[in-house]
Amino acid sequence: MAKPDPNPKSMSATKPGAKPTTKSRAKHGVATLITLDDVRANPEVAVFVRKADHNLEVLGYTEHAERHAGIVANTARDILLALQRPPRHAELAAIAGYLHDVGNAISRLDHGIAAALIARDLLSQMGMPVEEYAEVMAAIGNHEEQYGEAISDIAAALILGDKSDVNRDRVRNPDPHTFDIHDRVNLASQNAAVKVDAAARTITLSLDIDTTVSQVMEYFEIFLSRMLMCRRAAAFLNCDFSLVINGTRLL
Ligand SMILES: [Fe+2]
Ligand SMILES: [Fe+2]
Repeated sequence: MAKPDPNPKSMSATKPGAKPTTKSRAKHGVATLITLDDVRANPEVAVFVRKADHNLEVLGYTEHAERHAGIVANTARDILLALQRPPRHAELAAIAGYLHDVGNAISRLDHGIAAALIARDLLSQMGMPVEEYAEVMAAIGNHEEQYGEAISDIAAALILGDKSDVNRDRVRNPDPHTFDIHDRVNLASQNAAVKVDAAARTITLSLDIDTTVSQVMEYFEIFLSRMLMCRRAAAFLNCDFSLVINGTRLL
């Protein structure tokens, strides 16, 4: 006689008409591709994204939560699609973009390496094949400006998505008297957008800076290394990188 299932919920099949989840698809042996939507919906991913952001808030950093993760994911995906790279590469870039900062849940130092390892655990548990999560790991592990390099299309797109996210919404210090340069530059910045001209082979970051809050020079003071990283990433994609601030092309 068969033993009763100690966890009857595990017997529940996908309801007729319901969208199958990643788990249910894997359980039924259906080959499936993990998407950004699957990653966003994963409760463990949500815990790591929030924990990472919380730790950075304690350390005095700007916002690195679902907003930043989502913007980086969408920008990275859009760049590769605009350059007519394979759609699956674009989706992997989006997934890498969403997970790239979860290593801050462990430590700010080398958080790219930590994030790559956390991503491996999460994505392998979700059923992503090793060939794909190895690509995601390499992109995430190369997003920090201290040592990151665009070693693939996915890594290049992630770098461009991450380094271009500067916006007043990211500032969480409520006291202007204690603003540091990062607070001032972010607070002064809005309308940051990455545009790809596939025919001209250019990737342009344009943004507006309120010079009554922060001088453009301050932007360069903290973002020069990031812009150089963006230029190398664009070059990997066979594009020139250009920077337009307040309508004036500076790079
Ligand atoms: Fe990061
Ligand atoms: Fe980031």
